[in-house]
Amino acid sequence: MVQLLKFSFVILLALGCGSSSHPLPQGALSGLVPQPQSVTTGGEDVGGRGFRCDGSLTVSWPEGWGMKAVRDWLDGSGLDVLQTAQGDAPGRIAWIRSNRPLGLEGYVLRIESDRVVIEAEDEEGAFRGWTTLRQILPPRCEQGCPRGFELPAVQIEDHAYLAHRGLLLDCCRHFMQPAFVKRIIDAIALQKMNVLHWHLTEDQGWRLPIQAYPKLTEVGGFRTEADGTEHGGFYTREEVRDIVEYAAERHIQVIPEIELPGHCRAALAAYPWLGCSGEEMDVPNNWGVFKDVYCAGSDTTMRFLKAVMDEVCDLFPSEVIHIGGDEVPKVRWASCESCQRRMAEEGIANEAELQTWFVNEIGNHLASKGRRIMGWDEILEGGLPKGAMVQSWRGMEGAIEATHQGTDAVVSPTSHCYLDYPLRSTDLKEVHGFIPVPDAAKGHRGSIVGGECNMWTERAPQDEVMGKVFPRATGLAEVLWSGPQITQLEGAYDGFLDRLDALSRRWAEMGLQPGLEGVPVRVEVLPSTLGKVRVVVHPNLRNVGGMVSFEPSTNEAAQPLGKVGDTLVVAGRGTLVVDVVIRGRRTAVAERFPLAGHAGAHQTLDLAFEPSSAYTGGGMQALADGRLGSSDFRDGAWQAVQGEDLTCTLDLGESLPIERLSTHLYLYQDAWIFMPSKVEWSVSIDGQTFEPLATQAPWGDALLPNPNQTVIPVNLSAKGVRVRHVRMRLVNPGPCPEWHAAATEPTWLFADELVVEVAH
Ligand code: ACM
Ligand code: ZN
Repeated sequence: MVQLLKFSFVILLALGCGSSSHPLPQGALSGLVPQPQSVTTGGEDVGGRGFRCDGSLTVSWPEGWGMKAVRDWLDGSGLDVLQTAQGDAPGRIAWIRSNRPLGLEGYVLRIESDRVVIEAEDEEGAFRGWTTLRQILPPRCEQGCPRGFELPAVQIEDHAYLAHRGLLLDCCRHFMQPAFVKRIIDAIALQKMNVLHWHLTEDQGWRLPIQAYPKLTEVGGFRTEADGTEHGGFYTREEVRDIVEYAAERHIQVIPEIELPGHCRAALAAYPWLGCSGEEMDVPNNWGVFKDVYCAGSDTTMRFLKAVMDEVCDLFPSEVIHIGGDEVPKVRWASCESCQRRMAEEGIANEAELQTWFVNEIGNHLASKGRRIMGWDEILEGGLPKGAMVQSWRGMEGAIEATHQGTDAVVSPTSHCYLDYPLRSTDLKEVHGFIPVPDAAKGHRGSIVGGECNMWTERAPQDEVMGKVFPRATGLAEVLWSGPQITQLEGAYDGFLDRLDALSRRWAEMGLQPGLEGVPVRVEVLPSTLGKVRVVVHPNLRNVGGMVSFEPSTNEAAQPLGKVGDTLVVAGRGTLVVDVVIRGRRTAVAERFPLAGHAGAHQTLDLAFEPSSAYTGGGMQALADGRLGSSDFRDGAWQAVQGEDLTCTLDLGESLPIERLSTHLYLYQDAWIFMPSKVEWSVSIDGQTFEPLATQAPWGDALLPNPNQTVIPVNLSAKGVRVRHVRMRLVNPGPCPEWHAAATEPTWLFADELVVEVAH
């Protein structure tokens, strides 16, 4: 286990910059991310003047250390660099081999007036020390160093908290160009991450070249999208080797993920005999969990997978090979003669154990080649395959269980580590607050050896990936490198944000555009006079502002309303648009909030059901709070109930001449969200006796299979009706129908608002 070095923190703001003609801005140490274990700028050894560079530099490192990534960076820095024999001498940046233990990937970086020394036990520690030095150099050096600059005097002692610090990059749902994968590698290396978990085979695309089975990429590498366009691509063997080498130069291990027994529809499209049915199928263009998986009863399929793994071992030096193992429906196995025969022959009791048998077959084959498998936490279900590492994603339980069973685990729970999730479910603060090694996982035979953040790309083509990965991956990098003794300190997150501000200047020079830290603004919708609501747009992050406008749903021109922080008044329906400004700079982000100022807004509402705690829409007033739902059913404005009617009654406070009643429904059958069988409207003058007004079921064929995520408007003209009470009942259509993957399970109903418009 890692021994923590002494933990002292003395970052002084005022640095002695001597007589340098181009002193660094104060706080050249302010962009260190992850936070080193110890930074000392005062004291006898390291006070005083720093190291001056006037455009030329002498560097040295021990014989045998390649330092390729450092050499490449220096070559592009515009500095005159002379490499000299090893050793520490005046005027030099010297990497020195240490003969004392410095901890996991540890190093000591000393910047003195006449030299810079990075001491490390090996080249890996030396490289981590280099990334720290790089973060102290002027950000402009990323494009070309200024002719003269000075580095602050400092001593940094540092090492990693956990050994496995990774990013999963899914290059299957969307293909990523090799040059882009390298940019990701560069960016995570700067954050001292050391694993690229490269997801290369999936239902929607097979990206890894396998010489024995060329159709895997020729057929499985491409899919036809719903709009008829083609998406796809694959890597050549040369590109794979190049990426692996590029990563290795940055001391990043590439762990390939070859999914089995499920998530393999692209392989089945290439070679249908791999599956239980042998039926021809397409490479799918939709997302989800598919029933067709590799046939566990077929010896030919097992031979295929072993041959694939042989080529994987040829391409990837990583000891660990990820075999997936997640989300494997067992229905095909249950009705497959070969699979059932296998179970009988091997004395396997059920399909969960058949998965363990399957994974063991591949695990044993890989073990014979000196490799070790890692799999998602589902691999625990039929009994832990021998020697397997577990990656826990459905919470932390899988990791804890793995440590109890004596094996190592990597954590990437959906609660903190899923970068495909929107900021509203996982923001930077949550990631940075993550505790990767809970007490329940301590003191057992196995250990949690690290964590990963997972960039699944169903909804993220290459162009959107950088902004989703950063800055959140940087938060996890700090959690895994610096450790809880730093990230769990009081005020740690604010300090992290300060350092991130400084790091952002370097990212800008590197051309890396991070996304936001979290949801930038939130709206509060308050009562106003009849037919209107008051709205306050609150900043949700530091340094957020922006102009607010309103786009009426009538297609009239957008009206400027005010700015973030103002109290604004909205009448009628439309969308509030906030053009987000951060640190005084405009961003490309426009946050949109559909609203309705209407006569029912903030009147007394009675619900005849209990809203789902997962979809409250904001509380008991959600169906009359002025906020409408967007095309995202998780936006916080939709309210939902499962398995029963959604009925609500609104008391307008006085009898009013109604013009129109309306609501929106959400349709997303893959997520079990259906249309009601009908919408019943009724009205009352006294709140006791309700008269039926109308019954609607205007969505016709929408109950047929239709996976689209759609907002369905429901409108009822009610001219001439004068009442005080309005009731809306959405009648539950009953369980998911026969054709549905979840047939017989209770359906959901979603609604956003009971909108009451009155005559003026
Ligand atoms: C996973 O997210 N299915 C591992
Ligand atoms: Zn089968």
